[in-house]
Amino acid sequence: MENFKKIGRILKMKKIFITGCCGYIGSHTCVELLDAGYEIVGLDNFSNSKPSVLDGIKKISGKTIKFYEGDMLDKDLLETIFNENEISMVMDFAAFKSVGDSVSKPIEYYINNVSSVLTLLSVMKEHNIKSLIFSSSATVYGTPEFVPITEESKTGGTTNPYGTSKLFVEQILKDLYKSDNDWKICIFRYFNPIGAHQSGLIGEEPNGKPANLMPYISMVATKELEYLSVFGDDYDTKDGTGVRDYIHVVDLARAHIKGAEKLNKEKSGLFIYNLGTGEGYSVLEMIHAFENANHVKVPYKIEARRPGDIAECFADSSKAEKELNWKATLTLEDMCKDAYNFTKNRKNN
Ligand code: WQD
Repeated sequence: MENFKKIGRILKMKKIFITGCCGYIGSHTCVELLDAGYEIVGLDNFSNSKPSVLDGIKKISGKTIKFYEGDMLDKDLLETIFNENEISMVMDFAAFKSVGDSVSKPIEYYINNVSSVLTLLSVMKEHNIKSLIFSSSATVYGTPEFVPITEESKTGGTTNPYGTSKLFVEQILKDLYKSDNDWKICIFRYFNPIGAHQSGLIGEEPNGKPANLMPYISMVATKELEYLSVFGDDYDTKDGTGVRDYIHVVDLARAHIKGAEKLNKEKSGLFIYNLGTGEGYSVLEMIHAFENANHVKVPYKIEARRPGDIAECFADSSKAEKELNWKATLTLEDMCKDAYNFTKNRKNN
């Protein structure tokens, strides 16, 4: 931890710009960065987050971030942020992320997830800030040709606009790096982040009904929702339900500290890493794991498949382990307990 703080002190005058800082992964990464001694400038439009998250970050870390409310599509706002702050690196978390929703709202997804990044990159270039960590996703692999998935696995054939939007941005970043090798870019392909900070002060808190499995299960357990719809049990998987690689959001956040270290060490480069645990769990296994960890019942009904879903997806994250000295350490039980703890806290406050 001392090394992290030392690096943070060296970069004291320079700050890390976090887009989507109040979002699920952005907020957890802010906590880890602040704890490592980094200073943060944050931006969020609260389209899928709440201002109260800033209080949660402060309560956990004891520190505040310099916050701007607004949208990444607002180039004037981005100009202001870059003019007013000594920024050394950008971590871009701001994006819509529901596979299911993206199928019915492609235009919104491409504007929000692709056009906004082009705006960000143009402002970064104007200010000669060329160090970026980008939140990509395992969905860029489409229906994987094999599992576990490595970074060399074929991408493309994406089955929903969310995954396609991430694939588009990855291509944009590869073209940008080819045009100017001064850039330092780390692309993190997240598998399925779940869970919450153990304090229960921040977690996955989507506006409206959850699209993702774990927040939905948690709200069934707190009886805010009646039952879980299991989207299909006729996939070619261990029990017919979808298999995913669930990773604790705090493990995911900690990978970003390693990513920042990597970019601070390198002169230039474009680096791609899978961030998962290497374990695939089915929907039914997740229901039972949640029930056992929290001693609750989660009623469910088997329903039709969700458009855009794939059968099975889990990671080979050995490249991140080797090159970043990062490995997920929190268990499925930790994920289930922390997710439930946050949802209970949120309901009661
Ligand atoms: C998981 C499984 C569903 C809800 C997510 C994020 C995406 C990206 C990748 C970060 C699937 C099933 C779900 C429900 C269900 N993450 N399910 N009932 O679709 O893998 O994508 O991870 O970049 O942003 O959305 O996650 O949690 O929606 O679904 O049966 O009510 O749970 O069919 O098999 P997904 P998810």
